[in-house]
Amino acid sequence: MVGARRADRQVASMIAAPLRVGGLRRRMLVGNWKMNRPPDVSEYLQRLSSRAARLPSISVAIAPPATLLAQISGSDEILAAGQDCHKSASGPFTGSVSAPLLRQAGASLVLIGHSERRAEGDTDQIVRSKLESAWAAGLTPILCVGETRADVARGMVGSRVAEQVLACLPVGRPLAPVIVAYEPVWAIGTGRTPTPDEVAAAAAAIRRALPQRISANAERTTILYGGSVTPASALALREVSDIDGFLVGNASLCATDMVSIMEAIAL
Ligand code: PGA
Repeated sequence: MVGARRADRQVASMIAAPLRVGGLRRRMLVGNWKMNRPPDVSEYLQRLSSRAARLPSISVAIAPPATLLAQISGSDEILAAGQDCHKSASGPFTGSVSAPLLRQAGASLVLIGHSERRAEGDTDQIVRSKLESAWAAGLTPILCVGETRADVARGMVGSRVAEQVLACLPVGRPLAPVIVAYEPVWAIGTGRTPTPDEVAAAAAAIRRALPQRISANAERTTILYGGSVTPASALALREVSDIDGFLVGNASLCATDMVSIMEAIAL
C-alpha cells in the first residue's frame, strides 16, 4: 500500500498541477498492453523504472492485463492502470473487473471508453457510468475518444471528438479529475498516424469542449495522443502544444521503445 499511496500522490499532483510557465502541463506516457505481456515483466519494469527515476517531470503508467496489476503497482516509479472497469462496484458479472477491485490491486488510473471496448458494446452512456464508478473508487479515469475513418471522410473530426467528450463526461461534475486520450479509431494498430496539424486540430477541439463539463480542471487537463505511436511518431507529435503525452499500445510491449518515447516526451 505504500507504493499505492505514492502513486496516488503522483496522480494527484499531476491532476492538480498548476500550469507551468508557457502553459505546459505535466507530461505522461501510458502503455496499454491489451491482452499481451512482455516476456519478462520484471526486467521490463526495471528498465522503465530506472529511466523514469531520472525523468521526474514525466508520469509513466502501464495498463497490463488485470492479472499483472499487482506486479506493476509494486514497482517504484511506474503507475498501474486498469484497461477497463465494470460500471457496477460488485455483483454477478462473470469475467469483469470492478473499479474498487482495480484499486485494491494497486491501480490509480483506468482506461475508459477505449475503442476496443466501444466495439464490444460500450455506449457513451455506459462510458459515463464507468467514469462514475472509477471516481467513486478513487481512480483517475483516462477517457478515450476518437473519430472513425467515416468521420474523417465527412470532415467531422473536431465535432466528433468534442461530441464524445460532452456525451461521456457527466454534467455537474466540474471538479472531476480526468485525463483524455485522443485516439483516432483508424490509427489504432494500423501503423498509420494523423499529421501533427490534424492531431493539433482534434486536441484543440477536445480542449475547447472540456470547460463545458469540468470547468475547474479544463485548462490543466492532460490530453494524450494514441494510435500507432512509435519512438519516431512521438518525436513528430511531441510539438503539438495541446498534447501532453502518449497512450501506446503495440510499442509499449518493448521496453526499448518505451524508454525512447519517454525521452522524446522529456526533450
Ligand atoms: P496502438 O494502440 O499503439 O497499438 O495503435 C493504441 C491503443 O489502442 O491504445
